[in-house]
Amino acid sequence: MSDKRLKDEVTGVETTGHEWDGIRELDYPLPKWWLYIFYACIVWSVGYWILMPAWPYFWNGAWRYTEGTIGYSQRNVVAGELNAAVAGRADVLKQIAETPLEEVVKNDSLMEVALAGGKAAFGDNCAPCHGSGAQGSKGFPNLNDDEWLWGGKLADIQLTITHGIRWEADDNTRQNQMPRFLDDGMLQRVQVNDVAEYVLSLSGQTENAEAVTRGAAVFEQQCISCHGADGKGNQELGAPNLTDAIWLYGGDRASIVQTVAHGRSGVMPAWGGRLDAGTIKELTLYVHSLGGGK
Ligand code: HEC
Ligand code: HEC
Repeated sequence: MSDKRLKDEVTGVETTGHEWDGIRELDYPLPKWWLYIFYACIVWSVGYWILMPAWPYFWNGAWRYTEGTIGYSQRNVVAGELNAAVAGRADVLKQIAETPLEEVVKNDSLMEVALAGGKAAFGDNCAPCHGSGAQGSKGFPNLNDDEWLWGGKLADIQLTITHGIRWEADDNTRQNQMPRFLDDGMLQRVQVNDVAEYVLSLSGQTENAEAVTRGAAVFEQQCISCHGADGKGNQELGAPNLTDAIWLYGGDRASIVQTVAHGRSGVMPAWGGRLDAGTIKELTLYVHSLGGGK
């Protein structure tokens, strides 16, 4: 250590008195702007400690913190935002519930909310059976195509969702049972095979003309009351079109024989008692929007 006041000969600046191997440290003061910002920070931090939650402390057996005089807390902020979102949604939900479906479709801003809500509700309630993309699987219809069992108009879809299909607990459920033709003794095994052959012929899948002719007679007798003389189905009765390539239970010979012999009777729960009217409308609009809506 040498004398602090010693001046550096080259620059003429005072030294701090620190010296290493003949190199002296010059005593440059901190820049004024830096100092003022530093003081300002100190003042600001004191204000911050007073106004905002700041210091943790241990008192009476628990960790606490100085809460600050303006009562700010991130939890309150988040809770406030959540409440606002719920209130906003309740408002729109109410509006959707009170507006006829056809009107909602024409209202872009309501539609946006309805489709988003419908998509979310679909994921929660419907995806386990119909698939997350509503693509369906064996026994569970694809809701993206324009083949409908019970109708693809808004009102049809709403009714299906509200009351379900063959859902015993709902008096207004969609009801129609295809007989179990073999099990119920309505047809012999050969007749089942023949009529299956005829059904295959409707979608061009068989060459067995004799069996098809025999099957056509059985079909005429037993099947047209639901599936129609042309086999194109009947949405009033939930009877599918048998002439297209879309199959709920499979369009190969074995699957068709199985369907005719033992029946299927798919069940879809009613949602009327479980979801509120607004959510059911949102679901209706969402399903309708998937591509096949009429
Ligand atoms: C437990 C399984 C299951 C769940 C959950 C389910 N569905 Fe279904 N759904 C079915 C079955 C099975 C059918 C076909 C029934 C039949 O054979 O007619 C069906 C049919 C439908 C149809 C009629 C399709 C047509 O072609 O007419 C619509 C629309 C539909 N479901 C919408 C929904 C919506 C929306 C939800 C959720 C709120 C839902 N489903 C939940 C099993 C289910
Ligand atoms: C009382 C009405 C009714 C009668 C009669 C009827 N069906 Fe059906 N059929 C239905 C319904 C409803 C379905 C929908 C499947 C279900 O039960 O879930 C269906 C489904 C089918 C399917 C399955 C289609 C698919 O996409 O997988 C085949 C095949 C079929 N019927 C053939 C026949 C044949 C053949 C006869 C006559 C021997 C017949 N049905 C008589 C109502 C009927």
